[in-house]
Amino acid sequence: MSITHLGQIFHIAGRPAASGADAALVWLPDGALVIDDDGTITYCGPRDDRPADITETIRDHGDAFLIPGFVDTHIHFPQTYSVDAYGGGQLLEWLDTCIFPAEARLADPEFAARIACDFTARRVAVGTTAAMVFGSAFPQAQDALFTESQRAGMRLVSGRGIQTVGGASAAALLTSERDAVELTAAEIERWHGADTGSPDTALLHTAIVPRFALSVTTETLGNLGELYAEVRDRGVYVHTHLNENNRPGDGEIDTVKKLFGVESYLDTYDGKFLPGSRVGGTSLLGRRTIMAHAVHCTDTELHRMAETGTSIAHCPVSQLFLGSGTMPWRRTLATGITVAAGSDVGAGDEWLISRVLSDAFKVHLSEPGDAGVAIHPAEMLFTGTLAGARALDMEDRFGNFDVGKEADFLVIEPGRWPPLDAILSQGIRADDAETARDQTLFALLMGLREPAIAEVYVRGRQVQAPD
Ligand code: GUN
Ligand code: ZN
Repeated sequence: MSITHLGQIFHIAGRPAASGADAALVWLPDGALVIDDDGTITYCGPRDDRPADITETIRDHGDAFLIPGFVDTHIHFPQTYSVDAYGGGQLLEWLDTCIFPAEARLADPEFAARIACDFTARRVAVGTTAAMVFGSAFPQAQDALFTESQRAGMRLVSGRGIQTVGGASAAALLTSERDAVELTAAEIERWHGADTGSPDTALLHTAIVPRFALSVTTETLGNLGELYAEVRDRGVYVHTHLNENNRPGDGEIDTVKKLFGVESYLDTYDGKFLPGSRVGGTSLLGRRTIMAHAVHCTDTELHRMAETGTSIAHCPVSQLFLGSGTMPWRRTLATGITVAAGSDVGAGDEWLISRVLSDAFKVHLSEPGDAGVAIHPAEMLFTGTLAGARALDMEDRFGNFDVGKEADFLVIEPGRWPPLDAILSQGIRADDAETARDQTLFALLMGLREPAIAEVYVRGRQVQAPD
């Protein structure tokens, strides 16, 4: 028995580059999404053209929109309650004042269980069906996170945040060099592909997550490189921060270069953290590696990421909040790197990926001179959905409504958020179908707010937020 969802469909079909997203944009005002018993899409097209011979149950969503679930490629689980924390400064001050103390609270198992519930509930509310989640230092908090995600039926890639050095404010989050590797290896054994027994079909995956270069030593990076060499064939991910804060002298990037003696920040993750050598020989870069931010990269760094298939989680809301600057949109994409959206909650104070795309539109239009660009609404949708699936190296499984993919989607009812309803019903005055399509999608993405997300589906099954 199939389930057929009727509604207005938007998605980015096929496997386009970001620049080709507009040509790949599909708009079906009277669309049908047909899903079989195991959650696979068997048809996406005009409702009147669907095969006549299917046995189906119909869910008619009226004039609601059906779009692929949002993918958040960078969000911090232990910062669920730290959104809009006043840190009195940029990245390093904010970490010391607000974030390290907040993350230390997850040592308490009761607190960890509560924050895992709230984090998962927020993800469901904002329709983030897949996410690369920067984890807690504490294994029992990670267990709570994986357990809640599994219960809700959400996709999750996560790993405990690894820190082996830091000042007094970070003390509770630090481990020995040995525990850094052993706890991470134990998490991989416990959770990687745990829900189905195979990472190829699982909703749950694990990652190796050194917080950033300043939270670890050359020894930690060398050991994690060795661990990665052992587990990368099993599809384990790597996730960390790169080139976020460029305050001269004592900011993140200058401090990394000084401490590690590297030419570029990326070298620390690329097995090159001693000048001129590749200690350990194992790079952490690859198709399952996502670097958060990458705001201030050199051309060499961008090309190295492109060459290794490493992706970028672009987090403009957070970059505004911490005064980190603007990732050059055109220059970064021109290298062929996959750039996907990241909320970076809690430095980002928007959970909803369309709000992140909205800020991306504004900041990149405001880039100086020729760099300024009005991102096409199709490219916005691409960045928040299919590019995220690509960054997670799971584009074959989800991210759009191509036949054969797992059905991750949102039902958006504009009537649940009257300002959006008003824009869509009164604001679109286009002379031709293509303009109407682009304007409708843009208004939908810019005007969307959480209350309008009526239902959230992963692999064809409606997910439920924890109580
Ligand atoms: N760099 C190291 N840790 C963090 C973090 O928690 N948030 C952000 N935005 N950058 C970081
Ligand atoms: Zn972050």
